[in-house]
Amino acid sequence: MNYENILVEQRGAVTLITLNRPKALNALNTAVLKELIDAFAAFDADDSQRCAVLTGSEKAFAAGADIKEMESQGFASMYASNFFQGWEKVTSTRKPWIAAVAGYALGGGCEVAMMADFIIAGDNAQFGQPEIKLGVTPGMGGSQRLTLAVGKAKAMEMCLTGRMMGAEEAERSGLVARVVPAGTLIDEAMKTAEAIAAMAPLAAMATKEQINAAFEMPLAQGIAYERRLFHGLFGTEDQKEGMAAFVGKREAEWKGR
Ligand code: HXC
Repeated sequence: MNYENILVEQRGAVTLITLNRPKALNALNTAVLKELIDAFAAFDADDSQRCAVLTGSEKAFAAGADIKEMESQGFASMYASNFFQGWEKVTSTRKPWIAAVAGYALGGGCEVAMMADFIIAGDNAQFGQPEIKLGVTPGMGGSQRLTLAVGKAKAMEMCLTGRMMGAEEAERSGLVARVVPAGTLIDEAMKTAEAIAAMAPLAAMATKEQINAAFEMPLAQGIAYERRLFHGLFGTEDQKEGMAAFVGKREAEWKGR
């Protein structure tokens, strides 16, 4: 697929995907979604790729779903097309991926950042769910993921007033893993992705699955699920290799099986 709205680059075992609609501050329209679905599916299917980074520009990760595309829609067309369907394909990516957010991450932009396994923010990042100012609500998971990340009080305040949250507050509130100077964002995100890419791939995938289960399951069920995945990894060559390498005081060489 030829991409018009995103750039995709493989750097070693890390896929860097860059939103590239600068004139619209990376607003997310249907074309962007299609390209992202394709790029994430290709990343997941490529054995040479082990972690991905999704980023935007220094001014905007993404300023939201494309308002100009939505403006003329009515209920029937939104419902018939199940508008926003397809984002589940992005969140069903099995390998780990990081959102590297600089500048505005508003509305759908904030929601896509929250679809990542974690967010690394530039110190100029601004997160917000300003949909209420457009007469609507979050529609790509924001009311759920923001609440799970920062709790009811901040999620309610942000979604009801549309106020933006800066990077420092976002880190303090648990929305982002780490804040770095905006100028070093891509380097820091790539370094983190490379560290993940150097881990046993099946263990990385299983870790992601376990932690995501915490959002779906009661504790006892989640712990049982974790234990089964843990047991399952003892059927892999990489478990033998990882433990033998530790005992033999050498670096492990992962096979991904
Ligand atoms: C379409 C957008 C856009 C968006 C910006 N642009 N955001 N186009 N959809 N979400 C376009 C502008 O129209 C403008 O195009 C160009 O990008 C530059 O934007 P400016 O407003 O001129 O830039 P600036 O003054 O720097 O302000 C930046 C900004 C502002 C604060 C981020 O653009 C803004 O408030 N954008 C909307 C943010 C928002 O409401 N997001 C939520 C969207 S709803 P032209 O052609 O005029 O130069 C959403 C829904 C989720 O995400 C699900 C529920 C339905």
